[in-house]
Amino acid sequence: MRRIGILTSGGDAPGMNAAIRAVARKAIYHGLEVIGFRRGFNGLMHGEYEKLRLGSVADIIHRGGTMLLTARAPEFLETAGRKKAVSVLHEQGIDALIVIGGDGSLRGAAELEKLGVKTVGVPGTIDNDLACTDYTIGFDTAVSTVTEAINKLRDTATSHERVFVIEVMGRSAGYIALAAGLSGGAESILVPEIPFAVEEVAERLQRGVKRGKLHSIILVAEGASSALAVAEQLKVLTKMDIRVTILGHVQRGGVPTSFDRMLASRLGAAAVDLLRSGCHGHMVGLQQGEIKSTSYQEALHQKKKFPEDLYHLATILAI
Ligand code: F6P
Repeated sequence: MRRIGILTSGGDAPGMNAAIRAVARKAIYHGLEVIGFRRGFNGLMHGEYEKLRLGSVADIIHRGGTMLLTARAPEFLETAGRKKAVSVLHEQGIDALIVIGGDGSLRGAAELEKLGVKTVGVPGTIDNDLACTDYTIGFDTAVSTVTEAINKLRDTATSHERVFVIEVMGRSAGYIALAAGLSGGAESILVPEIPFAVEEVAERLQRGVKRGKLHSIILVAEGASSALAVAEQLKVLTKMDIRVTILGHVQRGGVPTSFDRMLASRLGAAAVDLLRSGCHGHMVGLQQGEIKSTSYQEALHQKKKFPEDLYHLATILAI
């Protein structure tokens, strides 16, 4: 192996830059050339790339976003698009490709494997919805961002004796809502993995008021419902003063936490090691503190286990 490619794909996640840096520097350390494709699979199909040198990845470890840019690439979903990508890789003499991204991006990498391209996936998404890794790059930063927002909203909620319904990202998973809800002390957390009734949320609110609570925070994962819909129902049921905040893409930006930088550095370096050992068609991940690799076949065909024990703990603590 002489030359490897790297790209970031799908939604950006804080820490992706640290992963790019780790891949580039670890590969250069071992005498490999590194080609960075811009705009995810789009840049791969259309031959948009730059050679990454040691200096190309300087001064990025602490920056959110991705220096390689990212995109969703509908053209890549078609066989013709993927064949285009394979011919660019051949033209450029690229022996293997490292793909940093979420579920859809790693599925894209698995499709390239079927066409004979050696790939390794690095899990990068704020959603933390990939199996075979305890954490994905960007999740910890996103949870910190949401927790900080809860702190701020709680101040104004208390002053006005209001209820805030806060909607967070996560696509069809509730990991961000659960982690931020637990660390932010939310009174109720609504996630797609656990069935809920808004009537019960209303009862909890009313019990809280009777006990003298001045405010309440309800966290809604976007995959469970919409904050606006939940707030409307709660207004009818409780007649309380309710406000809605949809945190949106603010959750995807910002300075990555040291946890995400560490994770990204370890996973990026491990991806290079995996390719050097001759292994491909795998995703690297963090499993109980250790970096492990799992085949796409295994990783992409299972659902991550939702930590119901943490959910119940959050419910008890918000009594
Ligand atoms: O997968 C990351 C994510 O931020 C999800 O949480 C969210 O549902 C989606 O991407 C938003 O995508 P876009 O940036 O394309 O609107």
